[in-house]
Amino acid sequence: MMHNHPDIETALQPITEQEFSRFQKLIYGVAGIHLAPHKKALLEARLSKHIRELGLDSFDAYYKHVVAAGQDDELVRLLDRVSTNETHFFREPRQFEFLESRVFEEWRETAAAGIKPKRIRLWSAGCSSGEEPYSIAMLLLDHFPQHNGWELEIFATDLSTRILDKAQAAIWPVVKAKEIPEKYLQRFMLRGTGSQDGKMKAGAEIRSLIQFERLNLNDERYPIAHPCHRAVDRPSSALGLLVRRSRGKSERHYRPCAPCHADSLSIERG
Ligand SMILES: C[S@@+](CC[C@H](N)C(=O)[O-])C[C@H]1O[C@@H](n2cnc3c(N)ncnc32)[C@H](O)[C@@H]1O
Repeated sequence: MMHNHPDIETALQPITEQEFSRFQKLIYGVAGIHLAPHKKALLEARLSKHIRELGLDSFDAYYKHVVAAGQDDELVRLLDRVSTNETHFFREPRQFEFLESRVFEEWRETAAAGIKPKRIRLWSAGCSSGEEPYSIAMLLLDHFPQHNGWELEIFATDLSTRILDKAQAAIWPVVKAKEIPEKYLQRFMLRGTGSQDGKMKAGAEIRSLIQFERLNLNDERYPIAHPCHRAVDRPSSALGLLVRRSRGKSERHYRPCAPCHADSLSIERG
């Protein structure tokens, strides 16, 4: 296919109801993301420039381009543009309070009694730009010191490759420092100076715990074998915090919070 040079302005026809509906179905089918009717203007705004840069002149032409065979990368780019990535450090404080007041104590006790190993694996499924897994990394390192023999591992996944790049870079505007408790800020975060002034970066200690990967929770099969995966629903369903520990065949699930923004956070011991 011949594309215009990106600088050439292509007149784009406004999206029609029918075109929007086709994108709604496609995006829901692939990623489980429901675009409400009032998101039509948002979709138009997020895609228009990209469609023009491709040298296409309508949303219909773009739709055909996306679904054409061999356009998997374009589908990923479309999903990148429609995903909503709002997140904060220590978002939903009640989840963190719950972990500290109920869950961690039990883990310490069962490890001390030799019932469970000193091993914690956590999955932040829909991790956005990393604030969630880095918050958990700070919390875990504080409560379960590695020098005391604790093995900590965080798996952080998201649909959006664009947002995963940000998460892996682990650099945020320093204004976000106010979301982080002072003791963690001092211990785990680096403040930029010189050309990096105004920025904040995650320190090596918390970065070393986290492995990032693209994963679509809507896929039938995940490209990983993870014991928690059956317990994690689509991110749009606001699971809240879900903590799971395996005890042979019996499992205990904690669902401490009212529906909240941390879409799917799964923690496993042992
Ligand atoms: C609103 S953010 C929430 C981030 C973080 N969990 C928090 O609570 O702060 C939702 C994230 O879920 C991701 N997401 C949406 N649909 C997804 C899917 N099907 N598979 C994986 N991630 C998805 C989005 O890309 C976005 O980064």
